[in-house]
This record gives sequence, C-alpha cells and structure tokens, in this order.
Amino acid sequence: MTVLKEVRQQPHINNEVYKHSSYYQGLIKRSLRYLSSGYPVHFTGPSGIGKTTLALHIAKQRNRPVMLLNGNKELANEDLIGAFTGYQSSKVKDNFIRTVYKTEENVTESWTDGKLLEAVKHGYTLVYDEFTRSQPEANNIFLSILEEKILPLYGTKRKESFIRVHPEFSVIFTSNPAEYAGVFQSQDALLDRMVTLPLDHMDHQAEVTAVISKTNLSRESAESIVEFVVTARELCESNDQLQGPSLRASIMIAEMAEKHDIPIDGNDEEFQELCLDITWFPLQTCTPKEKQPQLKEKLLDACKKIKVG
Ligand SMILES: Nc1ncnc2c1ncn2[C@@H]1O[C@H](COP(=O)(O)OP(=O)(O)O)[C@@H](O)[C@H]1O
Ligand SMILES: [Mg+2]
Repeated sequence: MTVLKEVRQQPHINNEVYKHSSYYQGLIKRSLRYLSSGYPVHFTGPSGIGKTTLALHIAKQRNRPVMLLNGNKELANEDLIGAFTGYQSSKVKDNFIRTVYKTEENVTESWTDGKLLEAVKHGYTLVYDEFTRSQPEANNIFLSILEEKILPLYGTKRKESFIRVHPEFSVIFTSNPAEYAGVFQSQDALLDRMVTLPLDHMDHQAEVTAVISKTNLSRESAESIVEFVVTARELCESNDQLQGPSLRASIMIAEMAEKHDIPIDGNDEEFQELCLDITWFPLQTCTPKEKQPQLKEKLLDACKKIKVG
C-alpha cells in the first residue's frame, strides 16, 4: 500500500479562484509566512470545500518537492520512517564439489527509507491530508518532528537514534471535523504545535469560478447550478452545515450536465433527477425524518427555478 507519494505531476489546479479572492489571497500569504517561519499550517472544515486543493496549491508555492501523505487507520511507523526489509542471501558455488551450492547469509539486513524520513531529511513540503484518519499513536512521531526538530529512530535497530529535520521541511495538515465518521480525535499536544485555520464553504462567486474552471459551461449556467446548491445547503437543519452539499456537488452537477448533454433547465426531467440525485442524500443526513418529505419538494422547487438563456 502506498500511503505517501511524491507529487511530481501536480494535479491541474486552476488558480482563478484564488487570484480573484482577497480572502484566499490573504489566507495563502499568511500560510506561507507561517510555514517559512517553521510553523505547520492546518486546514480543517467540511468535506468537499477545497482543503486538499488549497493545501497542494500552497505547498507548490514553496518551490520544494511536495509529498502527499493520506491519513489512514492502518498507517504505521514503518510506512513513515522505513524498515529493514529482510535478509539478503546469495548462492555461492562450492569450488570443490561442482554440483553443490551453498547459501550464504548476508549479515546485513537491507533498510528502505520511509518517505517521511526522506522528506524530513531533504526538506520537502509535506501535505498530510486528512491526518486524523490515522490513529493518534501513528501521529505521535510528528510531536518530535515539530518540536525537537528531530525524527526519532528508536526501535528501528538503526545505528543512529535520530535524524535532524532539514530547516526547509514543512507540513500542511488537513482534516475533517471530529464529528465525521472514521476520524480520530487528534492529541491536543499535536494541535498545539500547528496553526489551525478553519475553512468554510467557498463564497458564491468563488464557487462559480471553481465550476467554470472545471467545465466549459457558461458563467450563467455555472451561476444557476451554484445558486441551486447554495439554496440546498441552506436547507440543512444542522447549523454547522457539515453535511450539506458542497462545492463537490456543484461540480458534479455541472460535469454531468456537460458530459451527457443534459440541458441546464429546471423543467427538464433528467436535469431535475440530476439535481435531486446529487443533493438529496447529503441533505437528508442533516434533516429530521418528519421534515424530509417537504424537503424533497423544496429541493425540486429550487431546481425548477433554473432557466438558462
Ligand atoms: N480552487 C479550485 N479551483 C477549481 N476547483 C477546485 C478548487 N478547489 C477545489 N476544487 C474542486 O472541488 C472539489 C473538492 O475539493 P477538495 O480540495 O478535494 O476538497 P476537500 O479536500 O475539502 O474535501 C474537487 O473536485 C476539487 O478539484
Ligand atoms: Mg480533501
């Protein structure tokens, strides 16, 4: 299982959203400032609002190789630091009896550097995405990295007991709020060592720009779709709107309509179905059962208002 990979080929990140938003420009500037001063940055917020994309965008600005680590329940120290990968053995031909080969055990085991060790040693920028999906014990190693600036190697049977963290090494963490399924509560000591910047849904215009950058739809079409999704989001009963449809929902509707020639028209049955398929489930999870039938009607009404051109 590859949990950590170097991001050589950056996914295409359209900067239009950030370029036109003073909010994002400020956020990016401050984040880069914290990172260059040795403080890790942590973006937390609902799923699908653009945390990973923003983290990668910022990481790229540092002009150091970028590594992406995905939080994972199974993540263990060997994945991060490295491990001995077994004995090397070789066959040696016996010079006296030609048909006999003996196997010679090589006394040294071979060690493979873990990717975190590589990143720490060479001063890469690490994006640790959804870090609270890893068990808190697996994340303990970051306490020494961030505080003492060393990567401890005890228990690995390596001769040296630690590796010094390269001065250019930096980390951008992302996480979903603790209420999400499959997420562990992070240890306070770790949170205490990073600058946590809570992110909310993009503002309306930024969301429209993101949809346009992902599709060839007109601004007017993108605006209608985003307007619908924002209306749906606002129907969410839970006040933190964690589960409401996100930017990802706007992009899904836009991409599906474009790919399958579904007219962006509230009177078109296929478009209505698309609107409901994408937004109904995330809304249902934040609405009490007795209110759900009316909710479906409200969603459909909002969809029917869409008329482009
Ligand atoms: N600045 C942006 N420009 C264009 N698309 C974006 C931007 N930010 C996010 N997206 C898109 O929105 C979706 C959700 O973004 P992502 O970063 O995966 O969110 P999160 O990490 O918060 O779940 C993805 O499809 C992503 O490509
Ligand atoms: Mg993400």
